[in-house]
Amino acid sequence: MIGSIVNLAYLFGATSFVWGLRQMSTPDTAKKGNLLAALGMGIAIIATMLLPMTGAANNYAWIIGGMIIGGIIGFFAAKRVQMTAMPQMVSIFNGLGGACAVVLAMTELIHYYDGTSRMDGGQLFIILTTLLIGAIAFTGSMLAFAKLQGLVWDSQVTLPKHHIVNYILLAATLGLTAYVFMGGIGLGITAAIGLMVLSLVYGFSFVAPIGGADMPVVISLLNSFTGLSAAAAGLIYNNNIMLVGGILVGAAGVILTVLMCEAMNRSLFNVLIGGFGGGAAAAKGVDGDQVAKTVTINDAAIQLYYSQSVMIVPGYGLAVAQAQKVVKELDDLLSANGVDVKYAIHPVAGRMPGHMNVLLAEADVPYPKLLDLEDANSAIPNTDMVVIIGANDVVNPAALDDPGSPIYGMPVLNVWEAKHVIVMKRSMSPGYAGIQNQLFFHEKNKMLFGDAKDSLQKLVSEIKTL
Ligand code: TAP
Repeated sequence: MIGSIVNLAYLFGATSFVWGLRQMSTPDTAKKGNLLAALGMGIAIIATMLLPMTGAANNYAWIIGGMIIGGIIGFFAAKRVQMTAMPQMVSIFNGLGGACAVVLAMTELIHYYDGTSRMDGGQLFIILTTLLIGAIAFTGSMLAFAKLQGLVWDSQVTLPKHHIVNYILLAATLGLTAYVFMGGIGLGITAAIGLMVLSLVYGFSFVAPIGGADMPVVISLLNSFTGLSAAAAGLIYNNNIMLVGGILVGAAGVILTVLMCEAMNRSLFNVLIGGFGGGAAAAKGVDGDQVAKTVTINDAAIQLYYSQSVMIVPGYGLAVAQAQKVVKELDDLLSANGVDVKYAIHPVAGRMPGHMNVLLAEADVPYPKLLDLEDANSAIPNTDMVVIIGANDVVNPAALDDPGSPIYGMPVLNVWEAKHVIVMKRSMSPGYAGIQNQLFFHEKNKMLFGDAKDSLQKLVSEIKTL
């Protein structure tokens, strides 16, 4: 009887995950989708606790205590986190998922080696896989968090010829996994601890050289690792809901990784061995004699108001300034004057996949106004004004014409093909990849310096007087 109730609860849980994910694909229903999936997970957890416990029957206090403490920390962390710090939070979640998989796998291995549980070859293989992927996801995600938070720079954690170090570490990790698998119970727990340590070191080392603009790929890949380690843990415990949840996260992460690789025009292999990213010093600097032209609020307002078409390019700085609602106000004013306003969305603009879409949805910018990279690049040559708000790397021509640049090969928005360009940012500072941008000195470009929200508010006030 209990078994049937639990299976029904798992069926509900699995359905709610899939339906929730479906709802998360559009901003209008995303919140509902998230709540539905959370409800399904909650019911699945409660149902699992109804199952008879093998071994220690007094574990409820640990489980409920852990859920309460973890739930409180998670609730307040998620409530307080700024939109711009979401990628860091996602990295921590990924890392903790990986750490859980490590703890589960090590617990099972301890029982296996002290003879309190038996395992066949298949089970041992799954446990070692869980340990390996979980450990890589844990240290990799923690380093990704530190990099995104600006606590660690690529140069501090990267060795010369780091990709060779990574090859050796990967071969050693896989070799030790095979050795532990073949050695079975005769090897004792020490070999398993060695494997855990080596996998943790490899996780750190594989993320270390991936830098600059290539971080989106690694974040989505680590996300898929966490899902896969949860799925493997589901296999260990023969728990269907853990398996389904893990597979969904793993598959979503893999799809996202492929999309991010396409967006960056990178092969996954090249990103993983550190063939790209970092190395900002190799990029062409900016000639000290070059001068960037500036524009006043008044001139910018007139130019925008009397254009036929305006393309807005949002970037990370728009999220920092929280200026999305003022952008919408500007859009409404221009549209009311007959200006055709569109938005060019680069797939890695901001700091997380879909960052700009979420930001603009918050301000109720209609979805059809958002153009993807390809459509935007086709439309830009016929556009009167491109207004870049807090974006930098995604409009950097070095990606096309400077083979020494760490972003070389990444598709960018070819904004310089428009008739006029205005870049709104606070200074000449580089963006995430740490490289200067020749666009700022382009003959068609003018800089409008200042905080994006402040400048946009001034533009809106000025346009209202026209
Ligand atoms: P970035 O290249 O990071 O440039 C953002 C610019 O915004 C900065 O140059 C900064 O210049 C400006 N800014 C910051 N605060 C501002 C404010 N309050 N008002 C006005 N401007 C402000 O951004 P992007 O073009 O969106 O490119 C994203 C980068 O992040 C890419 O390299 C991408 O690979 C990387 N990345 C993306 C992701 C995902 S998944 N999207 C994840 C990790 C990394 P000032 O300081 O001069 O104002």
